Amino acid sequence: MKYKLPYCLIIAPLALSLSCGGVKQTPAAPVAASVNKQLPIDRKVDSLLALMTLEEKIGQMNQYNGFWEVTGPVPAEGAAAQKYEHLKKGWVGSMLNVKGVKDVKALQKIAVEETRLHIPLIFGYDVIHGYKTISPIPLAEAASWDLAAIQRSAEIAAAEAAASGLNWTFAPMVDVSRDARWGRVMEGAGEDPYLNSRIAESRVKGFQGNLGEFNVAACVKHFAGYSFAEAGRDYNTVDVSNNTLHNIILPPFKAASDAGALTFMNSFNELEGIPATGNAHLQRDILKGDWGFKGFVVSDWGSMGEMVAHGYSKDLKAAAMSAANAGSDMDMESHGYVEHLAELVREGKVSEAVVTEAAGRVLRVKFLLGLFDDPYKYCNEAREKATVGKKEFHDGVLDVAKKSVVLLKNEKNILPLKKQGQKIAVIGALANDKTSPLGSWRIGADDESAISVLEGLKQYTGNSITYAKGADVAVGPVLFGNETRINMNDKSGFAEAVKAAKAADVVIMVLGEHGLQTGEGRSRAELGLPGVQQELLETVYKANPNIVLVLNNGRPLTIPWAADNVPAIVEAWHLGTQAGNAIAQILYGDYNPSGKLPMSFPRSIGQVPLYYNHKSTGRPGNGQPTESVFWSHYIDAPNTPQYPFGYGLSYTTFEYSNLKLDKSSFVKGGKITVTVDVKNTGKTDGKEVVQLYLQDLFASVTRPVRELKGFELIALKAGQVKTVTFTIDEKLIEFYTANKKFEAEPGDFNLYIGGSSDAVLHAPFTYN
Ligand code: NOJ
Repeated sequence: MKYKLPYCLIIAPLALSLSCGGVKQTPAAPVAASVNKQLPIDRKVDSLLALMTLEEKIGQMNQYNGFWEVTGPVPAEGAAAQKYEHLKKGWVGSMLNVKGVKDVKALQKIAVEETRLHIPLIFGYDVIHGYKTISPIPLAEAASWDLAAIQRSAEIAAAEAAASGLNWTFAPMVDVSRDARWGRVMEGAGEDPYLNSRIAESRVKGFQGNLGEFNVAACVKHFAGYSFAEAGRDYNTVDVSNNTLHNIILPPFKAASDAGALTFMNSFNELEGIPATGNAHLQRDILKGDWGFKGFVVSDWGSMGEMVAHGYSKDLKAAAMSAANAGSDMDMESHGYVEHLAELVREGKVSEAVVTEAAGRVLRVKFLLGLFDDPYKYCNEAREKATVGKKEFHDGVLDVAKKSVVLLKNEKNILPLKKQGQKIAVIGALANDKTSPLGSWRIGADDESAISVLEGLKQYTGNSITYAKGADVAVGPVLFGNETRINMNDKSGFAEAVKAAKAADVVIMVLGEHGLQTGEGRSRAELGLPGVQQELLETVYKANPNIVLVLNNGRPLTIPWAADNVPAIVEAWHLGTQAGNAIAQILYGDYNPSGKLPMSFPRSIGQVPLYYNHKSTGRPGNGQPTESVFWSHYIDAPNTPQYPFGYGLSYTTFEYSNLKLDKSSFVKGGKITVTVDVKNTGKTDGKEVVQLYLQDLFASVTRPVRELKGFELIALKAGQVKTVTFTIDEKLIEFYTANKKFEAEPGDFNLYIGGSSDAVLHAPFTYN
């Protein structure tokens, strides 16, 4: 039976609707005759708000974590019983971490049948890179620079999640990340604001689509500055300049908002001494003011309550006051609003208008999602069964997984592997792991559900394969809750690995981080291969140096020894459900690697934070006599990264030539057209990411040495040449100036084009 709206106000025009304000509705006596779908959403929201009590409005601002086994008996006592009472009273607007049609439906039924106003819940979940069928971690996907593939991956995630009852994902994370120690770099698109912005748009489009039954609302996070945690330690203090905030941190958030993202999540950190959850400048002035964002902002988990620990709020009540007044619309699990907001309104510390506005924002998103037309829109068990794990989704995540792999080194053409007659030794615990490839933040997926590297390789039957674990990945009990995986120093498997290597033509070593060694709360103070893996690598190398090192990791690692010694290195991240198939296809050359790094790889931890779009400094070192020490450098390491942003090799080679600008200067309203020829100079078809960087030579505030301002992924047959065109206009050179606004300043620029951030082909131009 089609759900009928039980409140007259949404159905009838506003004037009529108000006449029923305050009337208690029951499911037995629905007022609805037919939905007036013509009424604009804002008027429907206003009409509904007019009927709501203060507590019911606050209810829309309250989000609870799933708190009981919904298909079992209802909770009789304690905190769960209280939450259950709140649910029935209409004091809960949203739930998180409840999934699956059966459970979602059971809770939705309480909201729409037992509460006074029958307002549906919105169900949120961390569908970060897939729900059951897992895509590569977002950082890996960013390495594809393939916006269509990334959008498809978000569509797949949304389709599976929506079929499982969910209507809201806490993604995309668009935090620009420069510090590889921070475990959450795996969740974003890396160090560049431009790449982050384009990917944010693709992900928002992929998740939200046309808000149909296979789409979910996106939640752009973490607003803002979270990735700048000092020393890369998660949840740590953030202290960034206004310049960095506006030019580096905020652009991807703005892009996501402009792309129509329905919700935002604020963050755990402080900014200018004010925790983001209580930060009115961020949420009211910038997001809802300057950018005109119409959706709602959810807090991060407990972040309202954490304002007490920050030393900003005296107690939870004060935190609730600051959060509400600052424009944090929904409270995720601090219980600050449900416990204190009504009293704060009565005391005049928060105006009822603030509550009404926040509740209205939440209701608006529910209307847009169609939950008032049908609160069970996402609750179709047959659809759930038919959708989750579909073959085409596996094909989709395999496609993006292959595209996410970055070839870092390939000496003597050791790759691709020959398909026949080779003896191959596969070494490393990660090679035989079916859970680690799923990576961090894949809470909807089943353990052991990924294709391991070993399984992927074994499908190529022309070669013989021997496997030896060698050493464990050194994952402690904090991550797994048991002692069995701790193996920090155990080298008992080395001998077997050496034996296998000696007997092999080629050794494939799969080393790096376990999927759960990255992600939230997984900051690292060292960035090398954990445990004894480095020693294993060097030991095996002595037995057989013909090594292909396949890295599995969620962040840039420091691998200077491998970079100097190992002939081939493949950056394979945590690639998701189809990881093993993707890696095997790359190693055997069935897919020619096309990925480019979205984060610089440091040589040593001391260089971190390390990013290509840094400022020049007053002593950049150009032309310094080598014996001088008085310039910005280290005395024991170079400034340059091991592998720069935008870098990645292919089984073929590309040549850039014929860079042309149709003019050397332009004025307001004008543009320059730039063309460059790119040739595939090898014998294999391949893809290249053609990258455009600009340098603004002097400005009212200092500018980075270069900034990505455009890219195009092109496919070239062996020997083929393509001309790639970029347009430079005023918009492209705008930045947050000394006037505290985005504008283009007249001046001189350099333009660089190439296949990585250290591109050398360049030309000057002027904006007058
Ligand atoms: C905390 C994380 O910071 C956030 O990204 C996530 O969405 C919430 N927990 C909910 O799980």
